[in-house]
Amino acid sequence: MTSLTHTDDRTIADLDALVEETYLLWDEEWVGFSWRNYTHEHMRRVRGLSTTLADAEGADKRLVAYAATLHDVTKSYDGEILTGPDGKRVLDENGFWRNATLPPARRNSVTDIYDRLGLSGTVHHASGGQVARVLLEARGIDADLINGIETAILEHLIANPDSTLAGRCLYDADTIDANIGMPAFYRNIQISLRNQDVQYSKRGEHFPSWLEENLADFLQGYLRERIPTWIESKAQDFVPKLMTGAGKAVATARLDRLRSTVQMLIDELDDLDRARRQGAMAIVASFMARRKNPKLVAELDAVATELGSHALAGPAATLLGYLHLEVAGHA
Ligand SMILES: [Fe+2]
Ligand SMILES: [Fe+2]
Repeated sequence: MTSLTHTDDRTIADLDALVEETYLLWDEEWVGFSWRNYTHEHMRRVRGLSTTLADAEGADKRLVAYAATLHDVTKSYDGEILTGPDGKRVLDENGFWRNATLPPARRNSVTDIYDRLGLSGTVHHASGGQVARVLLEARGIDADLINGIETAILEHLIANPDSTLAGRCLYDADTIDANIGMPAFYRNIQISLRNQDVQYSKRGEHFPSWLEENLADFLQGYLRERIPTWIESKAQDFVPKLMTGAGKAVATARLDRLRSTVQMLIDELDDLDRARRQGAMAIVASFMARRKNPKLVAELDAVATELGSHALAGPAATLLGYLHLEVAGHA
């Protein structure tokens, strides 16, 4: 097992800052299922989880940490996947989907590399691998490691049993973060409420005002029906696709944590006013109210401050503990 040196830590911190700077070159508030601040936090969580999986699976942790940091470096360029007149996805010469390219509003060294390599129209796992290669060569990373990193980034979107172990760890961490567990639940809240915003504004109505007056009704349907259905569909669709034993174990543990969280929240519906002040529901209600391009890590601090001593014991503390554990990618 190759562990990270202080130089690696510094280089990864430098690349991490470059990746964040790159995402902020686009001004779109929402693209597909991601809001502007989502992808940087997602990348950090994926780095945490993929290195946890690498530890358990005996993969090269150093390679995985670099690959995770750069795996979505070109993600902001991805617009819609292009489909032909037959409704099928258009493929490039390597068999990868072609993508509508979303241009940045401003430029930096990453966009310069992207343009120089002529990557427009390439889906982000392929373009990301190539941009990563240039960034890592400039930082003196050795050729073998770069080859492994580029391969793992290429594999992060479509892995198979023959993919590299590092690529399978990255694929699992990436899939789990977006679909299974506390960060995915937070994302579900943001996407669900954003969809409501769009639908209400089409009718000339304001969803947040409606929600303020009808939170109890909304939570009944959301927590008793839509979220349990969502959890079980993810369990069915995504767990069998995971590529490592460690990934499947983490996903299973996360699903259990989610199910018990939802039960805890349902139990709180009986006394919603109290739960909103001091229960696990205070956290969910805060996530629902604070939706202007949020950062989950900052939201956790904000709600803990609001909860005061209730953040230290009881259901709120349990849910905050789950969130912190999974945001760090420890489990
Ligand atoms: Fe990705
Ligand atoms: Fe990703």
